[in-house]
Amino acid sequence: MTDIPTDATETTSLRNKMIDQLRDEGWITSPEVEAVMRKVPRERFTPPGTALADVYNPWDAVVTQTNEHGVHTSSVSAPQVQAFMLEQAQVRPGMKVLEIGSGGMNAAYLSELVGPTGTVVTVDISSEITETAARLLAENGYENVRVVTADAAEPIPGVGVADVILVTVGAWDIPPAWTYQLHPQGRLVVPLRARGLTRSISFVMQGDHLESTSAKQCGFVAMQGSTEHHEQLLLVAGTEEIALRFDDGLPIEPSQLDNAVKTERIEQWSGVTLGRREPFGSLQLHLAITVPGFCTMTVDQDLDSGIVVPNRHGFSLAAVDGDSFAYLVFRPAGDDDVEYGVHALGNHAQQLADTLIATLHDWDAHHRGDSTPIFRVYAAGTPDDQVVGDRVVDKVHSRISLSWPAA
Ligand SMILES: C[S@@+](CC[C@H](N)C(=O)[O-])C[C@H]1O[C@@H](n2cnc3c(N)ncnc32)[C@H](O)[C@@H]1O
Repeated sequence: MTDIPTDATETTSLRNKMIDQLRDEGWITSPEVEAVMRKVPRERFTPPGTALADVYNPWDAVVTQTNEHGVHTSSVSAPQVQAFMLEQAQVRPGMKVLEIGSGGMNAAYLSELVGPTGTVVTVDISSEITETAARLLAENGYENVRVVTADAAEPIPGVGVADVILVTVGAWDIPPAWTYQLHPQGRLVVPLRARGLTRSISFVMQGDHLESTSAKQCGFVAMQGSTEHHEQLLLVAGTEEIALRFDDGLPIEPSQLDNAVKTERIEQWSGVTLGRREPFGSLQLHLAITVPGFCTMTVDQDLDSGIVVPNRHGFSLAAVDGDSFAYLVFRPAGDDDVEYGVHALGNHAQQLADTLIATLHDWDAHHRGDSTPIFRVYAAGTPDDQVVGDRVVDKVHSRISLSWPAA
């Protein structure tokens, strides 16, 4: 639409409108974050030629790098996400902040928040990104930000211990470098993936482990380098289109599912309804905590033979139990609600459907709304009896537990 804007009045007014919206909807909650987001001109940190409507779209990132497979590898994060992560990070004047994943925009906000007595180090694995970030920061007067090119899963030389580590890239694991570089009273904010679900989590140290103080739903480009991790896909035998996706290891002998699609599909409705605008992140997490074989399902639309009928081909909550698998569905219920149900296939489909329906009722009774589980991060190798939590997910460097707070 437009090139780099020259009309300061127009950009200021777009920025203020966006910040008003983020504040009114509760994504910005402090005067400090509000002030820096009003102050820093966002259009100076997005690529030349980016339409102003995109620069000041509160909900969408501006992609800045894409790899040879068409996968986005870098972006200027969405203002909404930057806002709530800055709130989670609780950055104060004089602090030392380590930002993992650069771009310049967020480092400029951090620089404003720490002020002249604080320091910001921003690290990115891509020299293309750090070169741009360093240039943009210098051009806009943020000389106190140190820009480093490195795999930030490893300790960064010369950083020492930070008051805040703000990770702005999707992590699957918590490498030891992050706890090692974190002040004992410090805060680690990280978009962390467990069981295929990503939450931006604010962690503080609690004795031998990290414990969450807040968690918010988000999506991020994935970590590259030594902690890069990919989901494992299980293509359901007898189909070409159904892939069950496991983010933390296949829980089963894949051959057990070989005959699942030879049985009739069971369809069962729960009576549990949800407003179309009501948050359902807690439902995802409740299934991830409660159901041992929790996974997600994608269906290739081009090869769809009708064996399964998901609401969305790209993403369904699903589960496997031995020789059976199931996925969640929803249907309209009244003008504004949907009702959740389960489709299940396999010799024990009824059993699995009953389990999932019971899980839906349990969520409805105890966890619906904005409730958030507690995430705890222990070092890999911590014995089971020292790990608190209902569902433990083993990574390479860490053991992550999830549990609902006591009622
Ligand atoms: C969403 S972007 C960062 C956004 C940025 N902080 C901003 O101002 O909006 C994520 C970045 O993380 C970087 N990244 C991926 N893996 C990394 C790693 N192991 N160490 C450091 N940076 C990494 C990518 O190159 C990418 O530039």
